[in-house]
Amino acid sequence: MNTPVNPQYIDIQGVEQVFKTKKGPFCALQNVNLKVAKGEFVALIGHSGCGKSTLLNLIAGLTMPTQGVLLCANREIAGPGPERAVVFQNHSLLPWLTCFENVYLAVERVFSATQSKAQLKARTDAVLTMVGLTAAAQKRPGEISGGMKQRVGIARALSMEPKVLLLDEPFGALDALTRAKLQDELLQIVANTQSTVVMVTHDVDEAVLLSDKIVMMTNGPSATIGEVLSVDLPRPRNRVELAESTQYLHYRKAVIDFLYTRQAHVEKLTA
Ligand SMILES: Nc1ncnc2c1ncn2[C@@H]1O[C@H](COP(=O)(O)OP(=O)(O)O)[C@@H](O)[C@H]1O
Ligand SMILES: [Mg+2]
Repeated sequence: MNTPVNPQYIDIQGVEQVFKTKKGPFCALQNVNLKVAKGEFVALIGHSGCGKSTLLNLIAGLTMPTQGVLLCANREIAGPGPERAVVFQNHSLLPWLTCFENVYLAVERVFSATQSKAQLKARTDAVLTMVGLTAAAQKRPGEISGGMKQRVGIARALSMEPKVLLLDEPFGALDALTRAKLQDELLQIVANTQSTVVMVTHDVDEAVLLSDKIVMMTNGPSATIGEVLSVDLPRPRNRVELAESTQYLHYRKAVIDFLYTRQAHVEKLTA
């Protein structure tokens, strides 16, 4: 079970993100405040276009906020870094490299200064085993399924031994059964590695199944955090058992109420 030790591992303070557009400034996020503890699994949920990816990109250091500050382990996030690995929905693998080589590239970038080639290879093999890809290691992305490609993306992120794993709808493009399988694997991996995870999703069940905390975002423009729901379901979690748990259904309903009752109409007005 995850035991948060540092209540402010990721600390987002008064963050605003205004984009310059042809039609003038567009305020995507306003006054976002969030703390994520070490070892915590946080889901960001909200309607399409509310600013989930914008917030994740800020934590990744891919963009800088127009106001406010983001800290990771008490340091300002000033750019991307291997301690904050990102997995995107479209996996972004290099098509001419094998699964092994795609992961090896990341391993090499992070560890080549301190480890031998044999160690880098062993590290790559280990992480491919962790996501169940040993048999497909020598295949190229064009030769494997969507689910397997996402596994390579997750393996690549894990291989860097990040302090924080950032996932942007990593299972969004997968069929329901593959998604369920990868969710279960992710639960297992996160339990083993004690990773701190921030995951963007618009899937209510995924959020409740995986998270310690569900951060519900209001609709944009000027989106912010509407509510934070603590999910106190014991771990390890089993999707079959949870389907009948009244506590699970209670959390599920709370998220659905937020998304489809309180945030439903605003979306229509701003669409
Ligand atoms: N680089 C950008 N320039 C201008 N507008 C952007 C940019 N990135 C995102 N936006 C806008 O910010 C809002 C939030 O986008 P995004 O974070 O991608 O939403 P989500 O991931 O929740 O679907 C949207 O209205 C989107 O059009
Ligand atoms: Mg997005």
